[in-house]
Order: sequence, then C-alpha cells, then structure tokens
Amino acid sequence: MYLIVQIILLLQVVLAATSTSKGYAPFAVSCPAGSLTRDASGINSNEKTYITNRQSMAKSALATFLNNAKLKDFDVPSFMKQASPKIGLAISGGGYRSMLTGAGELAALDSRTSSKDKTLAGILQASSYITGLSGGSWLVGSIAANNYLSVDKILADGNLWNLKSILNYYSSTISNVLMWAEIGKQVNDKSKAGFNTSITDPYSRAISYQFLSNFNDNGAGVLWSDVTSNSAFRAFQMPFPILVADARDNYISNLNSTVFEITPYELGSWDPSLKSFVQTKYLGTNLDSGKPTGICYNGYDNTGFVLGTSSSWFNQALLKLSNSRLPSFLSNLITSVATSNIQVAHYKPNPFYKSSKQDTSISKSSSLDLVDGGEDGQNLPLLPLLNRKVDVIFAYDNSDNINHWPNGSALIKTYQRQFVAQGKSFAFPHVPDHKTFRNLNLTSKPVFFGCDAKNLTSLTANIYDVPLVIYLPNRPFSYWSNTSTAKLEYSITARNKMIQNGYEIATRKNGTLDSEWAACVGCAIIRREQERLGKAQTDQCKQCFKKYCWDGTIYRGADIGDNYSDTGLTKLATAYNSQNVAGFNDGSSDF
Ligand SMILES: *[C@@H]1O[C@H](CO)[C@@H](O)[C@H](O)[C@H]1NC(C)=O
Ligand SMILES: *[C@@H]1O[C@H](CO)[C@@H](O)[C@H](O)[C@H]1NC(C)=O
Ligand SMILES: *[C@@H]1O[C@H](CO)[C@@H](O)[C@H](O)[C@H]1NC(C)=O
Ligand SMILES: *[C@@H]1O[C@H](CO)[C@@H](O)[C@H](O)[C@H]1NC(C)=O
Ligand SMILES: *[C@@H]1O[C@H](CO)[C@@H](O)[C@H](O)[C@H]1NC(C)=O
Ligand SMILES: *[C@@H]1O[C@H](CO)[C@@H](O)[C@H](O)[C@H]1NC(C)=O
Ligand SMILES: *[C@@H]1O[C@H](CO)[C@@H](O)[C@H](O)[C@H]1NC(C)=O
Ligand SMILES: *[C@@H]1O[C@H](CO)[C@@H](O)[C@H](O)[C@H]1NC(C)=O
Repeated sequence: MYLIVQIILLLQVVLAATSTSKGYAPFAVSCPAGSLTRDASGINSNEKTYITNRQSMAKSALATFLNNAKLKDFDVPSFMKQASPKIGLAISGGGYRSMLTGAGELAALDSRTSSKDKTLAGILQASSYITGLSGGSWLVGSIAANNYLSVDKILADGNLWNLKSILNYYSSTISNVLMWAEIGKQVNDKSKAGFNTSITDPYSRAISYQFLSNFNDNGAGVLWSDVTSNSAFRAFQMPFPILVADARDNYISNLNSTVFEITPYELGSWDPSLKSFVQTKYLGTNLDSGKPTGICYNGYDNTGFVLGTSSSWFNQALLKLSNSRLPSFLSNLITSVATSNIQVAHYKPNPFYKSSKQDTSISKSSSLDLVDGGEDGQNLPLLPLLNRKVDVIFAYDNSDNINHWPNGSALIKTYQRQFVAQGKSFAFPHVPDHKTFRNLNLTSKPVFFGCDAKNLTSLTANIYDVPLVIYLPNRPFSYWSNTSTAKLEYSITARNKMIQNGYEIATRKNGTLDSEWAACVGCAIIRREQERLGKAQTDQCKQCFKKYCWDGTIYRGADIGDNYSDTGLTKLATAYNSQNVAGFNDGSSDF
C-alpha cells in the first residue's frame, strides 16, 4: 500500500515536470510557401552548402592526417592543391554489437581521442559524411544529436550510453514504473495531438534513455532536424549524418527494397520506386502532391523516433515487458499490435501521398511504413554514400552472418543491386562471393575493393565516381566482439571492451600488426583523385595495394572453417584466441 501511494505521488511529480517542457507531441506551425517535397534529382541545397563550407576544414584535416601517415615520396601540399578527396564512413547494423564496435572505430579516427596510438587520428575530422543503420544509427544519431561529443568524452562523462536493458532500466521497481509512466504519457500526448502511434513510439522513447539522456526528459523534445542548430554543425566541423531505413514490403530483398535515408534536412529515397524527398522538419504534415492540405506541423521528427525507425527490428523487445508495470494506454498499444506490424514504424500521414510522378505503392498509401534499415540484407548504409559519389568509403561491418561475425554479405547485396532496376542510381565495385570472403581471409583483416577504377568499365561509364571501399569486418582482437544482436544489456566493463576491440579493428591493433597501416589507408583515400589527375602511385602505395586489395581471385576449394587468432587471421588453432579472452560465447541476455 505504501509503495502504491509513493508511486502515485512520484508519478504526479514526474508528469507535472514533463508537461512544462517541449514534449514529444508534434506542434502546429505556419506553413512555408511551396512544396515540401522534391524530386530526387540532386543533392539537397542546404546539404550542398554544408558540404561546400565544410570542404576547407576537411581538407586541412586530411592534409594533417596524410603528413602524419608518413607517405613515402609523396608531396602532400602539392597534391592537396589539386585534389580534395571526399570520405564517407558507414556503420552497419547489428544492435549494440555494432554500435559499440563502431564507437571504437570512430574513436580511432577522431583526433580528439586521447590515446598513445594515433594511427588514424583525424580521419573523422576529414570526412564529409557518416551513415548509420539500425545499431549503427544509435551511434551516429546519438553522437550527432549530442553536438558530436567524442567517444572519449561520452565515456568520461558517464551520462550517455548506460546500456542497461530498456526492459529493466533501473534497479528499483518504482523507477521502472515511473519510466514507463512517463513514456506512456509522452506517447499519449502525440496520440491526443491527432497522430497515429505505434509500438515504435514507446520503443523509441525507451532507447532515448540510453542515447539522449543528456537532454531534458531524455530527449522527448529533441528533433533530428535540430542537429542543424548544434554548434559543431553550424561550424561545419563534422561529417554530415545520414540514417537509413527500408520501406516495408511483405518480403523485401536487396533487389526490390526501397531504401530510405533520413538526414536532418530530408527523408526520402533515390530509388526509382520513389525518387523523392520531403523536408524532415515538416514530417507529420498532411501533404497532397507535396503541398500542405491543412495545418503544418513540426516536432514529428523526434530523434529517438528516427533512431527507432532505422532499428525497428528491436520493437519486438517490448513484447517482453511485464504488463503489470505499464500504464494501460501503453499496454494496450503494445498488446494490440498485429504480428505483421511489430517491426514497423508508421509515418502517418504519408508525406509522399500522391507526390511521386510514378504511381507507386508508396505514393498511393495513406501511411508510410518503414522498417529496420538492415531488413533487405544491405546491412551497411552504403547507398547514401554511393549516391553522393564520395571517393572512398570506410565500411565498418559488424553484421551477424555466421556466429555473429560478418561474411561479406552486406557488400554482396549492394553489389548485386546495381544490376537491377532499383539500382540504377549508383555503381559499386566488384566483390567476390561469401565463400571467397571467408576462405581468403577477406573477413579477417581490412580489404580494399575497387582499387583500380579502370577495372570498373563493365559497371559504369563514370568509373571515377565509384568509390574505393575499405572493408573493415568485425574480428576479435582483444575481446569476443561477436555478441548476439539481441543482447540488450552491457555492463560498463563489457561496453568498454567492445569499444576497445573496435579501436583495434580500425587501427590494425594500434599499428602493431602493420606499422604502415596509416600510410596504406592514406594511399586508399587519395587513390581516386590520383587516377582522375592521371598521377602514378608511389612504390609504397603499390605495396600497400598488393597487401590490402582484393585481387579478383575466387576461392573454389573446400571450406577452411572458422579459427581465430589474436592477429585476426584465420589459422590452424585449437584455441579461439591465444589469450582466451573472457566474454567468449557469454550466453548474452537476449530478449
Ligand atoms: C590500443 O589503443 C587503445 C586506445 O588507446 C587502448 O585502449 C588499447 O589498449 C590499445 N591496444 C593495444 C593492443 O595496444
Ligand atoms: C494506426 O495505424 C495502424 C497501422 O496502420 C492501425 O492499425 C491503427 O488502427 C491506427 N490507429 C489509429 C488511431 O489511427
Ligand atoms: C521482392 O522480391 C522478393 C524475392 O524475389 C519477392 O518475393 C517479393 O514478392 C518482391 N516484392 C515485390 C513488391 O516485388
Ligand atoms: C553468409 O551470410 C548470409 C547472410 O547472413 C547467409 O545467408 C549465408 O548463408 C552466409 N554464407 C556463408 C558461406 O557463410
Ligand atoms: C575486374 O573486373 C572484372 C569484370 O570486368 C571482375 O570480374 C573482376 O572481379 C574485377 N577485379 C577486381 C580486382 O575487382
Ligand atoms: C589466411 O590466413 C592464414 C593464417 O595466417 C594463412 O595461412 C593463409 O595463407 C591465408 N590465406 C590467404 C589466401 O591469404
Ligand atoms: C580449426 O580448428 C580446429 C580445432 O579447433 C581444427 O580441427 C581445424 O583443422 C582448424 N582449421 C583450420 C583451417 O585451421
Ligand atoms: C562467437 O564466435 C565463436 C567462434 O566462431 C563461436 O564459437 C561463438 O559461439 C560466438 N558467440 C556468439 C554469441 O555467437
């Protein structure tokens, strides 16, 4: 009895507090003139301005990196006078496994990280774009929303990335009841404002306790379009963030999915099945052929909701919530969800209603239904980078293909897509099949694809627009980083070890496996511009390419199997890791 009274009292305090600040419900604003959608005929003009303004800063960061990388017989200043390579970073899906491994990988690229090892420091500062999908969107989204805090600072501050399970976030029952009461109130506010809510709403609010906990009410009022007013963004200091989701279909494959991207400016797709974009800020507004039909709204593009959309595969975790702890509004919302709707984020109204010139299933529907960005198997968010024609992509693959390790499938799916109608907007370098990836050690260490633009003529006439891809698969260098995708909880120790292992993947174990790794990465970054300018590679870069480029070989022998050494390579071994690091096959607390 005492407990109940206390909960009710606390509830009143919490609910009174939340109602005073900017909340989760969208709010009416005056409509801007003109259409809120546009044809996907080029880069958004605000984004173009951002990238143009960023270019000088990115170039000087790149020059610093190239100087530190000790490229032999290469004149950095004279090259940088003529060239400005564009770098894109892509973080795959894979739940917290990918978020944390990716965090270590980003820390390795960040000049702000305090570490003895500076192998790749500054590449983050030199990059134009960063994309994330599902678990990768948690990383990219939480960093961008928090004014691009460094991973180091996030860990030192201790406010963000407390990865207790969202199902049991606090140690006390009262606190958990209060958390879900607050979430229930926020989602109900959106519903009362006239918007359709779905299981993605409470799920999105819950993950915001991990990713937006630096803000009032755990980010209930923080919008994805707000990234553009962050000081780091306004100073053009950091790569432009893009998140990825897929349109729902009963069965989606990489060949017929409609891949959506969500930037702080726009949401939409380059694919022929939609080929248009809507302004992110005005999501929630009823549109007919892009024109508002009534009141205009802001506030629909809640950052947590956008992350929840990209990672909506995880909606199903909420089915495990104990109903007795939930306010009835929420338990009704969750228990009433039809099986076919569990992993779906509903955007209603559909901003593309009648907007597309083609009469597609998307333009005909009253709601836009999006699903997790990894649902079509393209588990690396590459399409936004390919459509922007960057020169080099760092593809951080933490997919679960076999025992929660990647096998190259994410690249293969995007490669295959370029040959069908949906893939008309881009070209992607040649990659081999799964069997070759695994047996030729192409998932054991970094591999470069598309090293030679002249070998891309069978794919496109614009060979220099196809990026060189630096593939960085997850591998256990100091920790068993193949944790289950469905593992919802990480201790501080496990979290930090995952991050450290990611750092080591990115840096070839802090340069210890290859003292020339930074130089080799430098060679990959400058390659396309060198080819465009007709400049020859240095001997050092030729050696690097011999070491890291896939040479076109296809493996046809018997499967070698999976053995792991602490060098990351496949080899004869009886133990999985010479140090037999704790965390191996740790069972994980899945949902
Ligand atoms: C590599 O550097 C990171 C970051 O400073 C550190 O945490 C890790 O222990 C280092 N690993 C090795 C093998 O030196
Ligand atoms: C919200 O959308 C879902 C899925 O389309 C639908 O089942 C539900 O009835 C809608 N709810 C409201 C209040 O419109
Ligand atoms: C997408 O492709 C899959 C596999 O080929 C097929 O089963 C599905 O019907 C396709 N969907 C559409 C809308 O074409
Ligand atoms: C590679 O991964 C894909 C996708 O997860 C899977 O379907 C395939 O069986 C795997 N193949 C090998 C050889 O590991
Ligand atoms: C070079 O191009 C051919 C097709 O023209 C392709 O089969 C081969 O895999 C490519 N080699 C490399 C290293 O990408
Ligand atoms: C893969 O790595 C193992 C262990 O280092 C090595 O023995 C084998 O030759 C490598 N295979 C290739 C194709 O490089
Ligand atoms: C992998 O390890 C097992 C024993 O753990 C061994 O039987 C097998 O031969 C190894 N395979 C390779 C290719 O190293
Ligand atoms: C991690 O990888 C090892 C080696 O492939 C495997 O035995 C283990 O089951 C994997 N752990 C998980 C959680 O998948």
